[in-house]
Amino acid sequence: MPILRPEIDALSAYEVGRPIDDVARQYGVDPATLVKLTANESPFGPFPGVAEAIAAETSLNRYPDNQAWDLGHRLAGELGVAPENLLFGNGSTALIADLASAVGGPGTKLVYPWPSFIMYRYAAAWAGMEAVEVPLDAGFRMDLDAMADAIDDRTRMVMLCNPNNPTGTIRSGDELEAFIRSVPGSVLVVVDEAYAEFVEDPSYRMMTDEAVRMPNVVTLHTFSKIYSLAGLRIGYAVGHADTLRSVRKAQQPLTVNRIAQAAALASLGQPDELRRRVEVNSAGRHYVSGALAERGLRFVPSHTNFVFFEMPGDDSRAWADAMLRHGVLVRPMSGGWMRVTIGLEEENRRFVEALDAVLG
Ligand SMILES: Cc1ncc(COP(=O)(O)O)c(C=O)c1O
Repeated sequence: MPILRPEIDALSAYEVGRPIDDVARQYGVDPATLVKLTANESPFGPFPGVAEAIAAETSLNRYPDNQAWDLGHRLAGELGVAPENLLFGNGSTALIADLASAVGGPGTKLVYPWPSFIMYRYAAAWAGMEAVEVPLDAGFRMDLDAMADAIDDRTRMVMLCNPNNPTGTIRSGDELEAFIRSVPGSVLVVVDEAYAEFVEDPSYRMMTDEAVRMPNVVTLHTFSKIYSLAGLRIGYAVGHADTLRSVRKAQQPLTVNRIAQAAALASLGQPDELRRRVEVNSAGRHYVSGALAERGLRFVPSHTNFVFFEMPGDDSRAWADAMLRHGVLVRPMSGGWMRVTIGLEEENRRFVEALDAVLG
């Protein structure tokens, strides 16, 4: 056995929501009868025109465009930034790791909220950084004061998750802006805005302007959620051109394949379709939250495509297994807490039925 870095060896294997076919095989059931609400994926297929754009991308003998010129120019136009303010990655997860490896190394610290997206913990370990996990406040929101207090002269990066996964909570644009201003310019602040499109609260604001203006601020976005391209792996960072030029040096070259670039490009410029999906999600979230409330279950009001809720007792894994036997996959978290992704109307109904079945 080779000697592993202890911080890597200590990580638990990343538990991504299992593929539905895998679960179906294990239980000997038809995958079509299962409802997967574990990974905050979109229940919709890709946007109109995407399948055609994928089929048309046949130059697969050629490496992809490392700069993603077409996609970058189009997206920059939509966001009102320059193409140099964008950096694409093999999912935003890869960009989190690229950013950490660009600024981290032995003796440095990565500060992030907890519970939050588990990849922050992985990114710290991969980059040889010490992970500093700052508990959420009593309202399950990022505790920005405590996070500011956690920053010291060894801190090289702070991750903010807004909205926060798994709790679905937000901090307002003003609160985030004040926090960002309080952080020393030598510390990279990364705002993960993977679920930004779902938020309807007027106090919320993406930190795009700050990212373009301030060399120590970067925001992260993904095509995996509202754009339904989780299977293709493409996300992007918005930031100062100088910062992104440096971060690119920490990135694996040719990381975004041709099909992902074509699919992302074809997804853009469809505001009505985007709005429709946001509205379907909001209605589903309203229904699921109402059902949890009616059953007296504690849940955290969400701004996203998932809801964090608490089952009786402290064994969420047992509840998840029980619901799986009713064909519905949800994500167990810690204690009795679980996370359910909002699906289509029928899928949400199946979730509520499974909930009733396991609650007896
Ligand atoms: C907060 C957050 N950021 C990033 C991602 C991953 O996005 P991607 O598929 O682009 O790697 C997720 C996925 O669940 C997430 O919850």
